[in-house]
Amino acid sequence: MDFQYSEEQQLLRQTVRDFAEKELAKDARERDAAEKFPTQHVKKMGELGFMGLQIAPEWGGGGMDTVAYSILIEELSRVDATAGVIASVNNSLVCYGLEKYGTDAQKAKFLRPLANGKKLGAFCLSEPATGSDASALQTTCRKDGDDWIVDGSKNFITNGTQSQVYIVFATEDKSSGYAGVRCIIVERDTPGFKIGRKEKKLGIRSSDTCSLMFENCRVPQSNTLGPAEKGFPIAMNVLNKGRIGIASQALGIAVGAFDAAVSYAKERVQFGKPIAAQQAIQFMLAEMDVRIHAARYLIYDAANTKDRGGDFTMQSARAKLFAAETAMFCADKAVQIHGGYGYIKDYPVERFLRDAKITEIYEGTSEIQKLVIGRGVLKK
Ligand code: CAA
Repeated sequence: MDFQYSEEQQLLRQTVRDFAEKELAKDARERDAAEKFPTQHVKKMGELGFMGLQIAPEWGGGGMDTVAYSILIEELSRVDATAGVIASVNNSLVCYGLEKYGTDAQKAKFLRPLANGKKLGAFCLSEPATGSDASALQTTCRKDGDDWIVDGSKNFITNGTQSQVYIVFATEDKSSGYAGVRCIIVERDTPGFKIGRKEKKLGIRSSDTCSLMFENCRVPQSNTLGPAEKGFPIAMNVLNKGRIGIASQALGIAVGAFDAAVSYAKERVQFGKPIAAQQAIQFMLAEMDVRIHAARYLIYDAANTKDRGGDFTMQSARAKLFAAETAMFCADKAVQIHGGYGYIKDYPVERFLRDAKITEIYEGTSEIQKLVIGRGVLKK
């Protein structure tokens, strides 16, 4: 497998790094403390083409490949994991699904403004009682003339209070399990659609996570995404792509923590020399370095398999599982290397540690990734 970066990918990495270090780094700590959504940064990310990087140019996107997409999310998350998840959800869970399954009319109306950053999107699968068991949805949809009537609630919705377009999964027939699930595009100003409580979180605090309510919410049936009976496979296929994004977010957190640890180890003097001269520190850095490289290769394996048109279900699950563990490992070691300074908010590593945890939870917990991999192994 060839893992050489193209000139375009290298240029993208430099562009994203410049943006992250000049713009995101300035107020990442303050936004985290104040749980403040990065509205101006997201606007700039849209102008730079970061919100629909892989979408075809005719629909407002950058037409780039999945390795480039991974580079984008890694570089954002290396400085601010919040920006990483906002972009990942819009690019993968929203734009990718609309491009893959949408009609031309849906692409013109919804995809173009989402891909060019004029609007923001959210993916609404989880519910208070439906997390890992994603097909057991309680939110219902029923036909009424040419409309759907949606009733129920969603929770843990990333970009929830800030979006204009919501990709909503609801069941038309609970008794038929996942075959009853439909995928419906709901616009923010639809009567009966309400934004609920904004969550207070351990990490990625400046990203926005909330519940949503649907009460007799009337949506035209022309807003059905994909063939009606394929709602659940749409969720699963979109999540396969989303998991490459979250794996890249985890990689970015790991790299951010690693870079901070290396700098600190070179500066911090104890026992008359920089702590980097101590083998105990070198061994920690070595373990971080190896895991980061392994995570990156697993992500690029998933990205390349996807771009070759293959089934990348297992590859994306492997990448997300391992990259999330790597983020936790590296953030923990970075705090350890910083000692007492790692535990206070003057240094970014405590934020990396808090941000890392969510990568083991959302878009399928690590246990769900193992289930997907285990089933794949047994199918062979
Ligand atoms: N890719 C493609 N298709 C898949 C799939 C995958 N990864 N997983 C399941 N499917 C398909 C199956 O092939 C099957 O379809 P067919 O019968 O046509 O073959 C159908 O979906 C049902 O599959 P299963 O019988 O395997 O269903 P299950 O209930 O036993 O298991 C599951 C499904 C894998 C546990 C699934 O529910 C799952 O992935 N759960 C995790 C949910 C999740 O990731 N939620 C994330 C919420 S969004 C989020 O987190 C966003 C954010 O905030 C950033």
